[in-house]
Amino acid sequence: MLSDLCGIIGIVVANKNTQYSPGTMVYRGLLRLEYRGYDSAGVASICDNKLVVLKGKGRIIDLERKLGFSKICGSTVIGHTRWATHGAPSDINAHPHTDCSNRFAVVHNGIIQNYLDLKKSLISKGHVFRSDTDTEVVAHLVEDYYNVLNSVYDSFKQAVKLLEGSYALLLISIHEPDKIFFAKKDSPLIIGLGNGFNVLASDIPALLEYTKRIITVRDGWIGYISGNSVYIEDFDGNIIDWSKYVRIINWSIGDAVKAGYPHYMLKEIHEQPRALKDTFYGVSKDENIARVVDLILDAEKVFITGAGTSFHASYYFALASNILAGVMVYPFIASEFESYAPVVSDRDLLIVVSQSGETMDALKALRAFKERGAKIVAVSNVVDSAIPRESDIAIYTRAGPEIGVAATKTFTTQTLALAWVAVALARSSGRIGEGEVREYFDILGNASKLASETISITEYAAKRLSEWLHRVNSAYYLSRWIGVPVAMEGALKLKEIAYIHAESYPAGESKHGPIALVEEDFPVIFVVPNNEEVEKLLLGNIKEMKARGAVIIGVAPEESSLIDEMDYVFTVPRTHWLLTPITHTPPQQLLAYYTAVRKGYDPDKPRNLAKTVTVE
Ligand code: G6P
Repeated sequence: MLSDLCGIIGIVVANKNTQYSPGTMVYRGLLRLEYRGYDSAGVASICDNKLVVLKGKGRIIDLERKLGFSKICGSTVIGHTRWATHGAPSDINAHPHTDCSNRFAVVHNGIIQNYLDLKKSLISKGHVFRSDTDTEVVAHLVEDYYNVLNSVYDSFKQAVKLLEGSYALLLISIHEPDKIFFAKKDSPLIIGLGNGFNVLASDIPALLEYTKRIITVRDGWIGYISGNSVYIEDFDGNIIDWSKYVRIINWSIGDAVKAGYPHYMLKEIHEQPRALKDTFYGVSKDENIARVVDLILDAEKVFITGAGTSFHASYYFALASNILAGVMVYPFIASEFESYAPVVSDRDLLIVVSQSGETMDALKALRAFKERGAKIVAVSNVVDSAIPRESDIAIYTRAGPEIGVAATKTFTTQTLALAWVAVALARSSGRIGEGEVREYFDILGNASKLASETISITEYAAKRLSEWLHRVNSAYYLSRWIGVPVAMEGALKLKEIAYIHAESYPAGESKHGPIALVEEDFPVIFVVPNNEEVEKLLLGNIKEMKARGAVIIGVAPEESSLIDEMDYVFTVPRTHWLLTPITHTPPQQLLAYYTAVRKGYDPDKPRNLAKTVTVE
């Protein structure tokens, strides 16, 4: 699993006859890493035996103008694009990070889970930290070992041994200015072999302009490159014959930015297992969860709000906290805040869900509630964005940057983070005991694996069904109970990118109006959560639709009694109902995606829509 929130690149040039200077090569590589999303960037090199670091918050192109990344001197240069996870986006938190004596500089992609412990022990030894990042510990650790071992590589190896978590790390040092040291575990890293130079980068786009001969660095590999050599060993010290791993890639730059996927949306759907793993890791360790639970339990009234997909996640949380914790949470659509603000006082709480943290409707709801004294909790995917900044407390998902306009991985990660809040709430309100909390921890910890299974077993089915669905004008997405927000999200996807009218409502409402529209071949998608009572009720709804000639499409758990009633089924893993968004959303995302593609639309850029709506 990858933790690919940042981008790294490093180049060592032996022969100065390359088309570009090393600084320019790194700068151009950073531009190729931009698509991954970032909030800050930086470069470091060794010039005349001194470490030079240029870094800051903002766009690469502006930083280039201000700091001159491409003009950095030296023939060994590393660079980084940062997407904040630990520590807000800022000049100080931007990579590269250095040690106390300015002899070592590090760039890192991933998360060092035990960095607080390491930091504490380094501080007690007199190390002075400048940033809030997990990465900075690596520079100080290497410095600490170097003072004893007097060898950069040995010190780097010792430092890496202490790291827990995920990392692709690059290190340069004034003591060996012609080398870049690297190590990899769970975060992507590639070596590009050049003529008179070698490159290390997070992914292919960053080095494609310079070479097509690459080695994909495996987990547990550590080593160094110089301008004309590569040395690799595994964590046990066995030397790797890397020549066996060299391959020639035939990608064009255009292909590469989507990492081989035809669209960002498809790439992001497939990134869900990774995003869920990182998010669960983050929230299950986040001390803010307990504070949020206290705020919820202390509040007189609890509201939750969001726009679009984030409203669906909000609605999901309201249902989950009612069902699991017996705590009433009131969901509303952010732009409707004025209908609710009049009843708000300083004893109330508002939870604002927004992946971007910048949506104006959500921000206005936040401000209106805050003005009346309510406490505010943010749930966001972007560290230090406006909504978390203006809230009392924030919880973060770790989906990584989402480029496709239609939200995919940000929805499943939002619901997973909120599911964990619901579990914590159930514990604090006395509904479940410690043993059950541990069971829920295992259940939610399995989300990544379940998403991966769902995607692999339903993708082909989604593609096939799109061959028929692309011809329809209208569809219903129905469910009950915890499935309702999941069906709503499915309908929104089809509407947004395939431009098919899709309506979602709780299935029991059919007889109160919507069924009047159902005729021969009208598609009705049923989202079936894992709950026997709900299945029984849905059976009646399926039958009433079938009787009018509807085509019944189901998203149902394995062995569901309803499968036989359906014309077309996406069978998903059977798991706890709390994970319904994780198992049941991906097939609906894929169905919308393939239908849009079949209709010839670009799913990444739906008409009339913007990724982040910062206007009312
Ligand atoms: C826009 C996007 C939606 C998104 C909504 C809320 O309308 O097109 O996909 O769900 O904004 O965005 P947020 O960043 O606040 O979650």
